Amino acid sequence: VGIRAPPKLLELAVQSLLRDEALAIAALEELPAELFPPLFSAAFAGMHSQAVKAMVQAWPFPCLPLGALMKEHKPHLEIFQAAIDGLDVLSVCLPLSRRRWKLQVLDLRRNAQQDFCTVWSGTRAGVCARAWLKQTSAPVEVLIDLCLKEGTPDASLSYLLKKVKQRRGSLRLCCQKLRVFSMPMQKIRKILKLVQLDSVQDLEVNCTWKLATLGRFAPHLGQMVNLRRLLLSHIHMTPHAAPGMEERCVSQLTSQFPSLQHLQELYLDSISFLEGRLDQVLRCLKNPLETLSITNCLISEADLMHLSQCPSVSQLKDLSLSGVNLTSISSKPLWVLIEKASATLQDLDLDECGIMDSQFSALLPALSHCSQLTTFSFCGNPISMAVLESLLRHTVGLSKLSHVLYPAPLESYEDVHGTVHLGRLAHLHARLKQVLQELGLPSMVWFSGNPCPHCGDRTFYSPEPILCIL
Ligand SMILES: *[C@@H]1O[C@H](CO)[C@@H](O)[C@H](O)[C@H]1NC(C)=O
Ligand SMILES: *[C@@H]1O[C@H](CO)[C@@H](O)[C@H](O)[C@H]1NC(C)=O
Repeated sequence: VGIRAPPKLLELAVQSLLRDEALAIAALEELPAELFPPLFSAAFAGMHSQAVKAMVQAWPFPCLPLGALMKEHKPHLEIFQAAIDGLDVLSVCLPLSRRRWKLQVLDLRRNAQQDFCTVWSGTRAGVCARAWLKQTSAPVEVLIDLCLKEGTPDASLSYLLKKVKQRRGSLRLCCQKLRVFSMPMQKIRKILKLVQLDSVQDLEVNCTWKLATLGRFAPHLGQMVNLRRLLLSHIHMTPHAAPGMEERCVSQLTSQFPSLQHLQELYLDSISFLEGRLDQVLRCLKNPLETLSITNCLISEADLMHLSQCPSVSQLKDLSLSGVNLTSISSKPLWVLIEKASATLQDLDLDECGIMDSQFSALLPALSHCSQLTTFSFCGNPISMAVLESLLRHTVGLSKLSHVLYPAPLESYEDVHGTVHLGRLAHLHARLKQVLQELGLPSMVWFSGNPCPHCGDRTFYSPEPILCIL
C-alpha cells in the first residue's frame, strides 16, 4: 500500500499537522499507518520533540529505522533523546486506546540498507521482517553498530546507554558490528556489559593492545557465540613479561574459540604471538572457515605445516598470507594448503611473502587445480619472467580466473636496490600479454604492482605503467 496523494498535498498535510504539536499528537489515534513515516520524518527534521516521542510510542510497524533517518538529518541531541524517551512507554500503561504497542526493533544503524519511507511496505528483508514474527510482549531491540574509540561514548550514545541500563528488562541493545579501537579496557567493559554480546556477528579489534589486554578482553569474545567475522590487529607481546604470562594470555584467547561455532572469517594482522603457536590457535577452531587472513605476522615452517593440516582450512574461499615472510620456508606446506582448498578457493593473496622462483614453481601444480580461483595476487615477490610465463601456462584451465596481480619480473630491475627500469618492464609486460593471446586468454587482466620509483606507493601497469601523480 503506497500513498496515493500527490506529494505536495501530503507535505502540506504533514506541515499543517505539525504546526500544532498537541493536535498532531491527538491525531495519532486516527492517523492511517502510511502517514506515520512522512509525519515522523518531518517531526524529526523539524525538532518537534513531543510529537517524535509520541510517534515512537504509537508507531504502527514492528521496526523503526531511525538510523536511516539520522543519516539524512544529522539529529540534535534533544530530538534523538525524545525518540529514545519514546521507548519508555514500555514500562507504563499504553496511553493510546486504539493501538497496541507494535514497535519491536528500533534500528539506529546508519548503513542498514533501509529506506525510511518504505517501512510500511511489509516486504522488507532482515531484522525488521523478523520482527513481525515476534511476540509483542518481547523487549524492544535497539540495533546499533558500535565503534569504540577515543571520544566514545558521545552524548547520544551515553543517553542511550543510560536508558538501556535503566530498562534492562525491556530494552535489548543489539550490535551486529562492533569495532574496538583505542579505548581503556575499563570503559570498554562498562559499555559491553550493556550489549547483548550474542548479537555481535562482526568484531574488529584494532587497538595496539598488549597481549595481556587481549587476555582481559577474551571472556567478552567467548560470549559472542554468533560471531561470523573476527579481525584482530596489532596485538603485541608484553616486553619483560613474567614467565608463563604469555602462554596464559594466549590460552585465555584460544579457549574462547570453541564457543565461536559460527565463525567463518578470521583475520589476524600484525599479531606478534603467532610464531610457534599457530597450532594452538587453530586447534581451538571447530568449524570450517571461508576466509583466513594471516598478514604481517611472523610464522614458522612448523606453523605453516599445522595450518596445512588444520581441518578448518579445507573449504577456504579467501586465503591471504600477505606480508608473511616465507623466504626460508619450504614450499611444501603452502602447496599442501592450496591443494587442500583447491575446490573452493576464490581469492589468493601472497603479496610481499618473499617467495622466490623455486618455491613459486613448486606451487604451480596446486594452483592449477584451483578451479574456482578468480583473483590471485602475488606482488612484491622476486619472480623471474620464465616463472611468470610458466604460471600463465598453468592457469590456462582456470576459467574463472580474471585478475592476476603480479610483481615486476626480476629482469626489469636495474640494480640490487630494486629500481625498476620502466621501459624494460613495459616490454616484459607486453610479452606476457602476447603469451596470454597465444594461450587464448586475452581477456584475463594482468596487473603488475610495484612500488612507484617516485613515491613508493604501489602502482599498477596495464598495459603501460601508471605512475603516481607527482
Ligand atoms: C588498524 O588500524 C590502523 C590505524 O590505526 C590501520 O592503518 C589498519 O589498516 C587497521 N588494520 C586493519 C586490519 O584494519
Ligand atoms: C625474510 O626472511 C629472510 C630470512 O629468513 C631474511 O633474510 C629477509 O630479510 C626477510 N625479509 C624481510 C622482508 O623481512
